[in-house]
Amino acid sequence: MRTSRRLDQVKPSLTLEFDARAKALKAAGRDVIGLAAGEPDFEPSETVLQAAEEAMRHGGGRYTAVAGTPALRQAAARAIEELTGIRYSSDRIAVSSGAKHSIFNALYALADPGDEVIVPAPYWTSYPEMCLALGIKPVIVPGRADLLPDLDGIRAAINDRTRAIIVNSPGNPTGRVIDRATLEGLAVLMRAWPDLVLISDDIYARLVFPGHRFLNLPMVAPDLVERTILVYGMSKTYCMTGWRIGFAAGPLEIIKQIATVQGHSTSCANSIAQAAACRALDETDENHIARMVTAYRERAGLFLDSFRSIGDLPCPEPQGAFYLFPRVDAWFGARLGDRRIGSALDLAQLLLDEALLGVVPGEAFGAPESIRISYATATDKVREACFRLERFFAALQR
Ligand SMILES: Cc1ncc(COP(=O)(O)O)c(C=O)c1O
Repeated sequence: MRTSRRLDQVKPSLTLEFDARAKALKAAGRDVIGLAAGEPDFEPSETVLQAAEEAMRHGGGRYTAVAGTPALRQAAARAIEELTGIRYSSDRIAVSSGAKHSIFNALYALADPGDEVIVPAPYWTSYPEMCLALGIKPVIVPGRADLLPDLDGIRAAINDRTRAIIVNSPGNPTGRVIDRATLEGLAVLMRAWPDLVLISDDIYARLVFPGHRFLNLPMVAPDLVERTILVYGMSKTYCMTGWRIGFAAGPLEIIKQIATVQGHSTSCANSIAQAAACRALDETDENHIARMVTAYRERAGLFLDSFRSIGDLPCPEPQGAFYLFPRVDAWFGARLGDRRIGSALDLAQLLLDEALLGVVPGEAFGAPESIRISYATATDKVREACFRLERFFAALQR
């Protein structure tokens, strides 16, 4: 059967594929440690569960307004104001079925087939594929050595067809936080191209390690608020991955168009999950978030110690989220028995087969010299994973 030519170019997610391979081995009884998925190992707080139950029992299971319940849009606006200091009216917020859906809708609302969107690498794996699915050309710009966006490269990639740039901080897969100087440089660039829009994927904004501070473009350049779409979600901070609630805040015209797209595709996001998200935002359990951040920081430290003791695994300091992105290219050419590591993909497969560690190769993120390790996994598992990693590298022949 003939299927859409546009979708012929879209690759399934390598992240999900490696996660699925790890899960298949686990289902077959192998003691695999999954470091591939970007899913917190914590549960939502008790108040969130209660809110869902109440909504279910008291008529909360009906269609809501397409862009979200007034209460959730207001709660989202308050949460964004607390985080960024920027006040959005609730009609400038659209609730969708997860941040992934918010980004897809934002791209849909912004660009036409043939337009271009700049995606600085290493990028979250879905950005380029979403563009391709919409007929938009993703223009990949390699990052700096510190894994942050390279402004010279971005400047050189902009042309009359460029509609948007997508950035993500703290970053998946890098764990890096975009610093003020880079955002100020980005602001200069945005001012020089008045039709450009920035999509700022801030989904990990609350998961920042002590000593670092989350900033986004409109926080350092308030004149660019109307040129920015901010994206947030409940999955990471509130451990509500399967509940599927995300939201976008931005210029009114874009938010209205997001609602139009959604009105003809998914309609409202799940109404029970909206009620729970509203409670989560209104009564945020700060201790819960602080405990997670402390655990994530500790686990990152365990892996960094292992990388140092193994050697030749340089890794820019993680500053937030729950990912590490060490370079592994110094190990290309090494062998384990008759298997040779020629790429990050080979290394990820070998780590899964021989060390029973599920990681994701950097090819998934436009940075094929690295692998991504997610440490949203219990700390004792992380300790065991470090041990296996050290044993694995010690057995490689170079
Ligand atoms: C950078 C980034 N953006 C967006 C998402 C999507 O999150 P969700 O659709 O679960 O809200 C993820 C999830 O992995 C992510 O890592």
